Amino acid sequence: MSRAKVKTAYVCSDCGAEHAKWQGQCNACGEWNTLSRVNIGPIKEASVGFAGSTAQIKKLIDVDTEEVARIGTSFDEFDRVLGGGLVPGSVVLIGGDPGAGKSTLLLQISTRLAQQRGVLYVTGEESLQQLAMRAKRLSLPLDGLQVAAETRAEVIATHIEQQRPEVVILDSVQVLQMANIDSMPGSVTQVRETAAFFTRLAKQTDTVIILVGHITKEGGLAGPKVLEHMIDCFMMLDSPAGSRYRTLRGHKNRFGAVNELGVFAMTDSGMKEVANPSAIFLQRGDVDSPGSVATVTWEGTRPLLVELQALVDDVASGYPKRVAVGLDQQRLAMHLAVLHRHCGITLADQDVFANVVGGVRIQETGADLALLLAVLSSFRDRILPRDLIVFGELGLTGELRPVANGQERLREAAKHGFKQAIVPYANRPKDRVANMTVHGARNLAAALEVLAAF
Ligand code: TYD
Ligand code: MG
Repeated sequence: MSRAKVKTAYVCSDCGAEHAKWQGQCNACGEWNTLSRVNIGPIKEASVGFAGSTAQIKKLIDVDTEEVARIGTSFDEFDRVLGGGLVPGSVVLIGGDPGAGKSTLLLQISTRLAQQRGVLYVTGEESLQQLAMRAKRLSLPLDGLQVAAETRAEVIATHIEQQRPEVVILDSVQVLQMANIDSMPGSVTQVRETAAFFTRLAKQTDTVIILVGHITKEGGLAGPKVLEHMIDCFMMLDSPAGSRYRTLRGHKNRFGAVNELGVFAMTDSGMKEVANPSAIFLQRGDVDSPGSVATVTWEGTRPLLVELQALVDDVASGYPKRVAVGLDQQRLAMHLAVLHRHCGITLADQDVFANVVGGVRIQETGADLALLLAVLSSFRDRILPRDLIVFGELGLTGELRPVANGQERLREAAKHGFKQAIVPYANRPKDRVANMTVHGARNLAAALEVLAAF
């Protein structure tokens, strides 16, 4: 291989964008001081794209669209996030903090899958002995699964080409390296090139490749943005501090709905699926307190009941704090402005803290109204009825906007014993929801009137 053609580039450690010259700010993502000089090896097979072999031009109508059979992982929560199982030839990236349980979950999945299919687990972080000990401790079936402790991409590729497993787990992408890339394992260039290499291999050999990545939400070195465009599915295993529950959320999926949420619990015997997440996220204590409101969010294809909590207190020092955990901080500030402008209630001299119990992250706007009512409940030191469920999006003009799947949300709440609901007017159910009184409110002021009548 010719070393002469080594190219130098300045690569952003945040998004992986390449620049010919050093500059203070990355053009692609706008981050400052993230460019560093790297040597990029001569890229082989430049004529072959991520999708595999060289392109043949066809008429769209002639393209084979037969549904490929998906490979079920026997973990329903995992399959749900994948959109119904693994698709042959696809590349799945599973990110998460170290210790989230990625290796544990994948070991459980791969030992089960290996009972019927060829599965190869490549570990670059743990030794084979550690892997075997863990599998034994978790009483997983040891026969079937093929394992290798290897970090050289080319060697792994040879194994894959010879053994032809249907599913390959690479744990983790940060320790893999390609011989012709002149930079450290885990660096942006190494991660990007090995991921591209395995993506091509997956398409060419029709193998499912599951890449594990230590990826924090903030991105960090070799963050998801570097890989996102080439892989098919990207999911994050989130581990809220101090909680034994883990949420697996799809962030990109070429074969299914994005934003699906799978819920697991880390137990002494490995990762267990949580079939009814509403029941665990809504475990409320016996004592009712102000600042607590239940809401029902929509996660992918199903409703999820969660408890929102708020604490409003006199400003401790300096300017008022607005802190939201599991919710969008900007939206909290926006809602407080709406509350002031449209209902005349000011919290300018108050610190406001908000939290989603259980460590779930709410990414949709359906929790707006519930968040604001939790804040008001704490501010006024008034307990809201325990059997009250609230959802709805709040607009800047103070109007309450409907959210998708209102009827299903109400039904889920009724199933868990909620008796009354405050929802946007347009979300009032067409059919009566059993055992539930539903109040439709056109705007925030109307919702507060309903509340005052309780
Ligand atoms: P691991 O799967 O190694 O995390 P990752 O691969 O994402 O870095 O999980 C390690 C953590 O999980 C560690 O803190 C111990 C805990 N754990 C359990 O609580 N129960 C178990 O059965 C196992 C195997 C691990
Ligand atoms: Mg691990």
